[in-house]
Amino acid sequence: MAEKFQAVRGMNDILPEEAHAWAFLEAVLRHWLGQYGYLEVRSPILESTGLFTRSIGEVTDIVEKEMYSFVDRLNGENLTLRPEATAACVRLAVQHNVLYPGPQRLWYMGPMFRHERPQKGRYRQFHQCGAEALGFAGPDIDAELMVMTARLWALLGIKEVTLEINSIGSAACRARHREKLIAYLELHRSELDDEGVRRLHSNPLRILDSKNPAMAHIIESAPRLTDDLDDESAQHFERLQFLLSSAGIPFVLNHRLVRGLDYYNGTVFEWTTPLLGAQSTICAGGRYDGLVEQLGGKPAPACGFAFGMERLLALIQETQSITIPVSAPDVYVVYQGEDTQPAAFLTADALRQAGLAAVLYCGEGGFKNQLKRADSSGAGYAVILGEDEIRNQTVSIKPLRGQGQQQTVSLTHAIQLLKQERTHA
Ligand code: HAM
Repeated sequence: MAEKFQAVRGMNDILPEEAHAWAFLEAVLRHWLGQYGYLEVRSPILESTGLFTRSIGEVTDIVEKEMYSFVDRLNGENLTLRPEATAACVRLAVQHNVLYPGPQRLWYMGPMFRHERPQKGRYRQFHQCGAEALGFAGPDIDAELMVMTARLWALLGIKEVTLEINSIGSAACRARHREKLIAYLELHRSELDDEGVRRLHSNPLRILDSKNPAMAHIIESAPRLTDDLDDESAQHFERLQFLLSSAGIPFVLNHRLVRGLDYYNGTVFEWTTPLLGAQSTICAGGRYDGLVEQLGGKPAPACGFAFGMERLLALIQETQSITIPVSAPDVYVVYQGEDTQPAAFLTADALRQAGLAAVLYCGEGGFKNQLKRADSSGAGYAVILGEDEIRNQTVSIKPLRGQGQQQTVSLTHAIQLLKQERTHA
């Protein structure tokens, strides 16, 4: 036997039953984003490597260790499979002058790629749904983004989530804080891991989101950015908290929340859950007021978030917070004998034209076998065509679930009955 191929490690196949749950979630998300006036954008999954190194930052986990980057051997271009889409979304907006008429609320959904160590909730190809509000300066949009995610959790019946917020201030605040942080970390140099030592002078803020438990106590007592906030950042953060409280959205202040990407400033936030083990963050975001300019656009403030769709689906499935409707045809068409096959073809098509989902038995099997298939398809009814039915220009409808009697009626009547049944289901 020929050797079988496997999907690339950390990259998941999505089989029909799961794909159905994905499509259901995607439809909910589209509707929800539309309700808030967000417009969809779709960008390529490949971008110039420089886009990510410049926006996410050279000294970050993503850029140092996790990007699928390669040189296109056909033209020598440096390309990267997108590890996230904020940079891509801003690139798209700058390239196409999307902000020319004014601020824009945009959203996207699709696969992202990071070469991380795969485990439950952490994959090398995963999917994000994200919203980016470009051109908005005030804390009202920060609040809107958090309120709308809270609304999504409610729509999906998810209760076990906590909103954590922080402000990492302006570039000037971070520069002040950086000096203090370096001085503090120098005192604890011997307790830092290799990565910490390496980042001590190049990007000390990143040390604060290290997951190394041995460094937790150093990080806990490190100088806090919130103590260095300038008036404007502090007022923005105060107003955000006021708006969240007015909207009835509980939150906790997490002074250690600094996010792992360099483009952030001011508000940062994460939605976490205790139900998904180590991968506890389902949604994350914040302000990135400098990114549009940094990527060549006219300066424009911005704020956004993205959540992992695998993590969200796992949370829905783990807590059974909503019932995802099963995918099954309305009817399954079976026939007795080869001579009735052409009529079965036409009948199935007539059912579809009437708006029903009708699957026609295909293959060699006998009648009993066909009925078994009909049953396992999940359809509510079998439509049967035999010689008698053809002769009398009728069809038989056999209920496959529950009680109900088989009836033989005209096709028009059958369509009426089946449509009625569907609206009652
Ligand atoms: P991030 O924190 O890197 O932020 O990722 C956002 C979310 O994507 C995470 O909270 C998690 O749910 C999901 N995620 C990340 N990596 C993986 C993975 N390897 N496997 C499964 N899920 C994963 C960003 O990407 C920013 N672009 C968010 C943002 C948008 N900030 C402003 N706008």
